[in-house]
Amino acid sequence: MMILPVHYRDPAHHAHEQQTLFHGSWIFVGMLFEFRGLVHAGVRLGDTELLIQCDKEGRPRAYLNVCSHRHAQLCTPGMHDGAVRCPYHGWVYDREGVPVGIPQRQAFPAVVAAPEAHRLNQFACEAVGEFIFVRLSAEGLALRDYLGSQYDFLVRASQGLSGVQDEFREEVAANWKVVIENSLEGYHVPAVHSGTLMQVDGMGRAETAPQFFLEDRLHSHLEHAADAEWVNRFARMESKIGQWPWRFEHYTHHFIFPNLTVTSFMGYSFHIQRFEPTAVDRTTVHSRTVGVEFANATAAGAKMMEHIYADGHAFTRRVFAEDGGICRKVQAGLQCAVRPAVLGEGIEDRVRHFHQAYTETLGSAVPGSRQ
Ligand code: FES
Ligand SMILES: [Fe+2]
Repeated sequence: MMILPVHYRDPAHHAHEQQTLFHGSWIFVGMLFEFRGLVHAGVRLGDTELLIQCDKEGRPRAYLNVCSHRHAQLCTPGMHDGAVRCPYHGWVYDREGVPVGIPQRQAFPAVVAAPEAHRLNQFACEAVGEFIFVRLSAEGLALRDYLGSQYDFLVRASQGLSGVQDEFREEVAANWKVVIENSLEGYHVPAVHSGTLMQVDGMGRAETAPQFFLEDRLHSHLEHAADAEWVNRFARMESKIGQWPWRFEHYTHHFIFPNLTVTSFMGYSFHIQRFEPTAVDRTTVHSRTVGVEFANATAAGAKMMEHIYADGHAFTRRVFAEDGGICRKVQAGLQCAVRPAVLGEGIEDRVRHFHQAYTETLGSAVPGSRQ
């Protein structure tokens, strides 16, 4: 089964997707290390506005971002310091989502007597290592079962993450599936990235073909060996830059259905992208580059890594702009396309795998209901 052109442009289909696929799936909403201390965040998940914060035990929790008093949105998208305080009449909520500070409390005897009854609506929320996921639907697979083999990858990738080094949010003028599909194949690299990816030291001359892993029903990943010369050059620097928790000698790209990618070259940083469908023909990409901790680095080695990271950030943005430009053209074509796409054997297998995951999930999904 393939995704049809109408599924990338029809607003009614888009609404259906939000109500089914985005309700039943576990969706990545942020990194656990971002929620240390008294902070909270507004995150949009499909058609639902969420408020994420950690409870007293440090576990991540997801609440509906709507005040229990008279429905004001509690916070805007992004991170916020301090406790949750409604901008309308100033109700303050604790970490468990219970209204504990109510101006002129004598006017609300029922709320003061049983504040738990007025707790914010909650959704299933769990972390795997540092990666926080939310499921809107009350019923569904446990997160571990949902993630399949990606579970162990996320646990391992979480070791020694040191914090966000670079972050941006950019809008792409295309349906979210166009942007995902673009990330799932390297076939477009010579035509779209002739000045960037084609010139990369570590990968441009790689002789082996990438290896695809398509065993998970919903997710997929690839590994592409780095060329030996680059690995050797890196190895010579390692006496200065030190050791990092998970060192491998390839580029890896993981797609976690429906809208998260985690990529890394040799494990010295991880690039985490979340593709948020903002409209049928608009996607907001939230991109984080997360560094890892190095042991036994010399001062000169730390400087070297700073340069490698800075070059990486500039490079990521250039590649992103190239992909955004081509995705806009794909969307323009999809607005009047009549036939399904033609997918290449091998080189576009991950796109085909995504089409299957998508059509199966949509076919079996029941409209989600809020808790
Ligand atoms: S609507 Fe939130 S305090 Fe009134
Ligand atoms: Fe690309």
